[in-house]
Amino acid sequence: MDDKLRWTVLDNAEAVACEACRRILAAAQQSIERRGRFRIVLAGGSTPAQTYRRLARAASDWAHWDLYFGDERCLPEGDPQRNSVMVDRALLDHGAIPRDRVHPIQAHLGPTDAARRYAVIVVHALPFDMVLLGLGEDGHTASLFPGHHHPGGEWVHGVFDAPKPPPERVSLSASALASTREPLFLITGAGKRDAVAAWRRGEDLPVSRIRPAGGADVLIDRAAYG
Ligand code: 6PG
Repeated sequence: MDDKLRWTVLDNAEAVACEACRRILAAAQQSIERRGRFRIVLAGGSTPAQTYRRLARAASDWAHWDLYFGDERCLPEGDPQRNSVMVDRALLDHGAIPRDRVHPIQAHLGPTDAARRYAVIVVHALPFDMVLLGLGEDGHTASLFPGHHHPGGEWVHGVFDAPKPPPERVSLSASALASTREPLFLITGAGKRDAVAAWRRGEDLPVSRIRPAGGADVLIDRAAYG
């Protein structure tokens, strides 16, 4: 078991979202006080939407936030299946974060071109102040999937034939995702239980390869933790 994982088990998804929002706001305040900015990588999928909706109702020094994406699906801009659209609907359409401080992945350009372009943005943003991550039922995180091999030395990967639709995606690399002061996993639902158990056993999964120097915090509900 990776002893650098700090598990916080909460009653349900609502409690996970509430605690995640609290920690994100605290990290933002500390980062802005110390460094004058808060560079956060957002997780995609459905789990974090509840957290983002809570953030949209909170108060923060939004003008000093910079939003990045851990991954994006190669779909047309505005496609409801894009992570950027989920974030727009949950947070950006309501919140006060200036649009010029939101750094979307140009995934509609295709995996290779979009990854190359985003790597230039990422390399100038490292280390991130916080990285949010989810967990898939097969142990994937961001768009890093089991059995996929990516060239070393890349900050951002083009992803092809992903098992979770759509097949083409763009993902920050394990190294980029681990380059952060505060990695925070948000995991809910019984469907994640097997992946969580395998992760806790130390099995070699994409999520296991995210190894920040100071370990990582995991906010998880009872249904997923078992
Ligand atoms: C994506 C996400 C992906 C997600 C997990 C969990 O684009 O699909 O980045 O990594 O975090 O698949 O998804 P859910 O939160 O929807 O269970």
